[in-house]
Amino acid sequence: MHTKIHAAITAVGGYVPSDKLTNQDLEKMVDTNDEWIRTRTGITERRILKEPGKATSDMIVPAVQELCKKRGIDPTEIDCLIVGTVTPDMVFPSTANLVCHKLGATNAWGYDLSAACSGFLFALAQGAALIESGRYKKVVVCGADKMSAIVDYTDRATCIIFGDGAGAVLLEPTTEIIGVMDSILRTDGSGSQYLHMKAGGSLKPASAETVANREHYAYQEGQAVFKFAVKGMADVSAELMEKNNLKAEDISWLVPHQANLRIIDATANRMGLGTEKVMINIERFGNTTAATIPLCLWEWEKQLKKGDNIILAAFGGGFTWGAIWVKWAYDTK
Ligand code: UT7
Repeated sequence: MHTKIHAAITAVGGYVPSDKLTNQDLEKMVDTNDEWIRTRTGITERRILKEPGKATSDMIVPAVQELCKKRGIDPTEIDCLIVGTVTPDMVFPSTANLVCHKLGATNAWGYDLSAACSGFLFALAQGAALIESGRYKKVVVCGADKMSAIVDYTDRATCIIFGDGAGAVLLEPTTEIIGVMDSILRTDGSGSQYLHMKAGGSLKPASAETVANREHYAYQEGQAVFKFAVKGMADVSAELMEKNNLKAEDISWLVPHQANLRIIDATANRMGLGTEKVMINIERFGNTTAATIPLCLWEWEKQLKKGDNIILAAFGGGFTWGAIWVKWAYDTK
């Protein structure tokens, strides 16, 4: 008889740069104000990777090093490393490749996964499937973005939202009924018109003209994205709970993508959860795209208990969205 293998999260690591970009700093850069930003988004400050020559991989490396240290493993033990990101160091090779090299993870293969704000969720679902297959024993799933590399700091509608950061989790097999339990993930390319980067891809390669037209920045129609995000994130979270017969009282934590406090509140309301069960750090980190969810797990790790039912939920560019049910696998001493 086969015992089903589950993929348990067995360690968490995170990294945010030390430099802060506050609402007061932004007031000096664009026509905005602290009151507007806080009431419309919930953000007070973000972290920015300012050091020249540093990229997304340089934030992932310390996050994974922390995770290895906590778990007492060497990077050479990692079998596979997946990076959810839309700000890879380069178009190619993959950031995962560069991270493995910098870590000395010489026995690992890996790849980048592009799903914008849902990048960590999509990567977690894939990492879990690799573990469940029985073929891999240690898979590292990262969500990381250096959004400051693609944010137009003259566009007040986008520059107030985004920040930089990285988070990572280690997945390992277990026969206990814990770990990544179920997921519902979705994409809808018709939403791409509302949130994308206009140039730099094969559709419109970089040229003097694309640079002059400021087409290498994140372009967002905020209101349209907002409408889809509120509905998408709440619907999929409720659907995942229904599918698995989970009631609000069964849920210990909601870990929502941190795009806008109003979207987070709407999702929590729909799930019947009070704010005391919702991880929120948007006020300090802003929207770090693929990093928001693992950064929450990183900050809340000590409060999590073995067996806690946790719902991770995201909505982002693509459109991409989804929710994952995780049964937490350990207590932190
Ligand atoms: O993470 C991936 C997915 N992304 C999201 O989920 C983001 C979803 N969208 C949002 O969070 C919100 O749409 C934003 C925070 C981006 C914008 O908030 P909003 O409430 O949708 O504002 P709006 O775009 O409807 O603009 C309202 C007003 C406009 O002025 P008028 O036309 O009413 O006079 C804007 O020009 O606020 C103005 N405005 C600003 N004012 C001060 C826009 N940006 C700013 C600003 N400071 N930074």
